[in-house]
Amino acid sequence: MKERIQRLQDEALSALQQSADLKDLQNVRVRILGKKGELTEIMKGMRDLSPEERPLVGSLVNTLKDEFEAAFTERQNALQQEAISARLESEKIDVTLPGRKQITGSLHPVTLVTNEIVDIFSRLGFSVEEGPEIEQDFYNFEALNIPKDHPARDMQDTFYISEDLVLRTHTSPVQIRTMLKNKPPVRVIAPGTVYRRDSDLTHSPMFHQIEGFLVDKHVTFGDLKGILTHFLNEFFGEGLGVRFRPSFFPFTEPSAEVDIACVICGGKGCRVCKSTGWLEILGCGMIDPAVFNSVDYDPAEFSGFAFGMGLERIAMLKYTVNDFRLFFENDLRFLKQF
Ligand code: DAH
Repeated sequence: MKERIQRLQDEALSALQQSADLKDLQNVRVRILGKKGELTEIMKGMRDLSPEERPLVGSLVNTLKDEFEAAFTERQNALQQEAISARLESEKIDVTLPGRKQITGSLHPVTLVTNEIVDIFSRLGFSVEEGPEIEQDFYNFEALNIPKDHPARDMQDTFYISEDLVLRTHTSPVQIRTMLKNKPPVRVIAPGTVYRRDSDLTHSPMFHQIEGFLVDKHVTFGDLKGILTHFLNEFFGEGLGVRFRPSFFPFTEPSAEVDIACVICGGKGCRVCKSTGWLEILGCGMIDPAVFNSVDYDPAEFSGFAFGMGLERIAMLKYTVNDFRLFFENDLRFLKQF
């Protein structure tokens, strides 16, 4: 019996030492001290011993039990400490590592150009108006003095939704909507998306325009020239060459197209300005009395001017982008440059 206890002691203590984790350790305890544990069995067997043997074995058993408990607690502490260290190690945060940068977007060049133009005109007292992209024939054409048989209405150019509804082909209908809502004086700038059945190297079926107009008493062509010249100098730079050429639009009379000195060659003549030294940049004119009639403004009392320009074209000239399609491809390598 003594030997058996001795052997069990050696075995139990080395099992404790070898246990790899807390679960293992608990299993050793059950094997020794559990209901059917080896030491428990020995204690149960003590009643069969002679009275002389019993105290001796009893004291050995007690010693073994005490030693086992002490060794168990020690090993348990060690394993717990190990577990904590392992966890600390695995969850370690290196605060000296460089941070991960948030990816920030940037504004689209057409948005940048729109914002800048709106800014310039805001400083001149213009306010922003918007209109629907699905527009009624009346606002897009009829009220703008574009009669039913006008070539601009050709199926080639206009996306018709129904007999009476179109995707607006320009931002000019905002003139009509604003004038029907407000009495003069009005000073409005109207950026927006427009659509035309046109798609090639220099045209997209969807593009952007900005419309501007001013109506008051005694507005003259001189006011139009002054404001547009001021705008173009603010936008492209002081001292820029600007010229007004006679033109035609159904909703203005007289009408003009405005050219600026070529931003690429400075007017000397190059491929971009087709050797003319000039770039066409916008259309404008004095609002036609026929337009005033359709919004119930008295042409004898009021006069005004209007202008409209394509924003992609402006952005191309401002940022010297040579391919129109780049604006619609959403290539980050392109967009990140602005
Ligand atoms: N709506 C014209 C177009 O889409 C541009 C334009 C020309 C607007 C002259 C105007 C203007 O307000 O006066 O081509």
